[in-house]
Amino acid sequence: MIFTVAIDGPAAAGKGTISKAVAARFGLAHLDTGLLYRAVGALVLAGADPVVAARTLNPADLEGDHLRTPAVADAASKVAVIPDVRLALVDFQRSFARRDGGAVLDGRDIGTVICPQAEVKLYVTASAERRADRRYQELVGKGLDVTPQGVLDDVRARDARDSGRDTAPLKPAEDAIIIDTSDLSIDEAVERAAAAIAAKWPL
Ligand code: C5P
Repeated sequence: MIFTVAIDGPAAAGKGTISKAVAARFGLAHLDTGLLYRAVGALVLAGADPVVAARTLNPADLEGDHLRTPAVADAASKVAVIPDVRLALVDFQRSFARRDGGAVLDGRDIGTVICPQAEVKLYVTASAERRADRRYQELVGKGLDVTPQGVLDDVRARDARDSGRDTAPLKPAEDAIIIDTSDLSIDEAVERAAAAIAAKWPL
């Protein structure tokens, strides 16, 4: 069975949580494509060339708590504007999307560029303030030294960079279902996504 669920949206809107939950519920493989860009960003912070890092990325590069820090998120969104970095990551994402058994991919350009033929396209969003607040709680929970204003500034800077770039900018696919999680609980958001998938599920 080939069945792709594309879940796009800005940072900290809830894509990751929703993706994991629906992948488990429907028995689909899951790829967090942000991790690919974070891994390249982390390698660049360690001195690598971004395009070389993207072309030679290997599974071990995708492991580690350091990938979840604000510094790496910022580096990820900087390398993500480089067309050759994006190009180097396309084939892996496309084959994952069309792998037998079905897949959920979450990112910024899955429904628009990586897999426009995805059976289900969701665009998960929320206000910048709600997203920053959630990300702040998450980072504090991990013991990171951050301020609410600093996290909000980072979220806004990343939004501007992700939406404003020329190659594969962040935007909903024309046929995407928009899920605004600003006033939804996690369960409510997951149920909306699950209902959209169930409506397209092959019998
Ligand atoms: O989703 P996450 O916050 O982990 O992504 C980190 C950065 O990677 C994003 O801010 C974005 O610039 C980039 N990214 C992208 N395309 C994707 C996934 C992530 O450009 N499909």
